[in-house]
Amino acid sequence: MTVLVTGGAGYIGAHTVRALRAADREVVVLDTLERGNRQAVVDTELIVGDTADQRLVAKICKDFKITSVIHFAAYKAVGESMIKPEMYWSNNVASTEKLLAVLAENKVDKFVFSSSAAVYGTPKSVPVTESASAAPESVYAETKLAVEKYLGTLTLNSVSLRYFNAAGASSDNKIGEDWSASQNLIPQVMRALLDSAFKFEIYGNDYDTPDGTCIRDYIHVEDLAMAHLKALEYLESGGRTLVCNIGTGQGTSVTQLIDLTEKIANRKVPFTVAARRSGDPVSVYADASLADRTLGWQSTRSLHNILESAYTWHSTHPNGYR
Ligand SMILES: NC(=O)c1ccc[n+]([C@@H]2O[C@H](COP(=O)([O-])OP(=O)(O)OC[C@H]3O[C@@H](n4cnc5c(N)ncnc54)[C@H](O)[C@@H]3O)[C@@H](O)[C@H]2O)c1
Repeated sequence: MTVLVTGGAGYIGAHTVRALRAADREVVVLDTLERGNRQAVVDTELIVGDTADQRLVAKICKDFKITSVIHFAAYKAVGESMIKPEMYWSNNVASTEKLLAVLAENKVDKFVFSSSAAVYGTPKSVPVTESASAAPESVYAETKLAVEKYLGTLTLNSVSLRYFNAAGASSDNKIGEDWSASQNLIPQVMRALLDSAFKFEIYGNDYDTPDGTCIRDYIHVEDLAMAHLKALEYLESGGRTLVCNIGTGQGTSVTQLIDLTEKIANRKVPFTVAARRSGDPVSVYADASLADRTLGWQSTRSLHNILESAYTWHSTHPNGYR
């Protein structure tokens, strides 16, 4: 019963691998390390390679007797996806199809997929449920939706977890989100606090929201990691293909997030306001009741806890994993 974790040296993958190991699961990680870190993979075999390498994946399936896969490996930067769409279609979709073909040949029939709340675009109403229509506003979001749809046509059972915004660092302060490898908001806010050479910009303060900045649902990365264990258990107990939100249900604006960070760090976050960025939805937060009903999963951490853990990790790891 070994779980193959693709992209397990990345931010969410590494936290999930630790959660799996803490639950005594056998795990093997496959990661190119292009955007991940060897040091983030603790107490687990790491194979450096590409999910599109079908011979390698077939060998891993046989050598490790893989029974299920958690598939994190992908590119995740919305802005980059608008500039380099072919790179996103190729790595996020074509490579996933190649991976799934090898899994079918090797009778691996349980698959947990890292989807994204980005598939909703700007939903008509919030909190958004899984039945809301998908309206991707970026190539990145299109690629996530394409894989979800493809999974819906296969006999393998899958759970597509539509993550909202993963954030924070591990409770023991060992792993976190390297700001040099991420354009996500919280690492950038932390960098603005801790690296005086860094110029932090927020993208737009003229949105139709109470303070003019975009609203997102920030979920602690360890809560998110637990959702993967729950999804595996669901599939192992015979659960069928499912698409499920993983968020807290709480919307936070960029301004609110900066204000709370300033209270935690007891200093100002320096920033300038830049133009809106293409592909950014206005306001998105989750209705996570399906995850509660079907997977038995709820979030447990507050935004305060997310920001505090991120601040502690970045303060003690100013060079990330370097
Ligand atoms: N971070 C978020 O808030 C968020 C939100 C929604 C969805 N997601 C999705 O969750 C997944 C993990 O996100 P993350 O924040 O940990 O990203 P990350 O960039 O930290 O991790 C991705 C990992 O995948 C590896 N990788 C990429 N392509 C690969 C390939 N073809 N073969 C093997 N390894 C490959 C990278 O080297 C990296 O270690 C991604 O699919 C992302 O799209 C993330």
